[in-house]
Amino acid sequence: MLVSAGPTREYIDPVRYLSNESSGRMGYAIAREGHKRGHDVVLVTGPTCLRPPSGPEVVSVTSAREMEGALAERFDDADCLVMAAAVADYRPRRRSARKIAKEDMPGGIPVVRNPDIVARLGRRKERRVVVGFALETDHGEERARRKMRAKNLDWVVLNGPEALGARSATVHILGTDGASKTLSGRTKEAIARAVVRAAEETFERDRREDAERSGTGTRGSRREPRARHRDTR
Ligand code: CTP
Repeated sequence: MLVSAGPTREYIDPVRYLSNESSGRMGYAIAREGHKRGHDVVLVTGPTCLRPPSGPEVVSVTSAREMEGALAERFDDADCLVMAAAVADYRPRRRSARKIAKEDMPGGIPVVRNPDIVARLGRRKERRVVVGFALETDHGEERARRKMRAKNLDWVVLNGPEALGARSATVHILGTDGASKTLSGRTKEAIARAVVRAAEETFERDRREDAERSGTGTRGSRREPRARHRDTR
């Protein structure tokens, strides 16, 4: 199970950066829960103030491009990606090696778009389960479902700005074919349990369908090497 968490930082010069608000708590809770349920978990994390979880392998990154590299490298070996990171959509066109004095700071900072990491990986997901997040202030469900389709996600976890930095939150876990589950004012640990279970359900359903199609039995999903899953395809 691959999990991303926290913000990315896009440096303007050695001391200034563009970023998103994100404590990393949700992604860390998902990584812990995945490990607790017996999965091999790799947590790819942007800079946070949290203690790294014991159990999952932890890969620390800074920028969106580094996060994409770390996830893309491990995606082939994964059965599931949970993309909880708050990836900065833009980065400065150039990063100055020297600190820019405020008198020299231009009126605006030219930016370029960062890759949409989950959308890129979603395009080559095959039988992997991919879960994304959407933080919305308006038309939440409609926008979240649109993102789910555009990014080829199996589930999208819809939340609002009040979840930022908080220990608990209200979320809607939306699935393809209209599935929807609301968790009101629940701890991030409780939300993590529901997210991991939703991903497991999809994984197991897909395996069952594959097995029925090929007329073979199903295999368990926990801590099995990827190669064995490949055999069932
Ligand atoms: N995401 C990503 N790469 C990006 C931006 C977002 O992988 N460059 C992922 C997030 O981790 C999240 C999902 O996409 O799982 C939705 O993120 P969000 O910022 O809400 O979506 P955007 O497509 O950037 O939409 P918006 O225009 O509303 O910012």
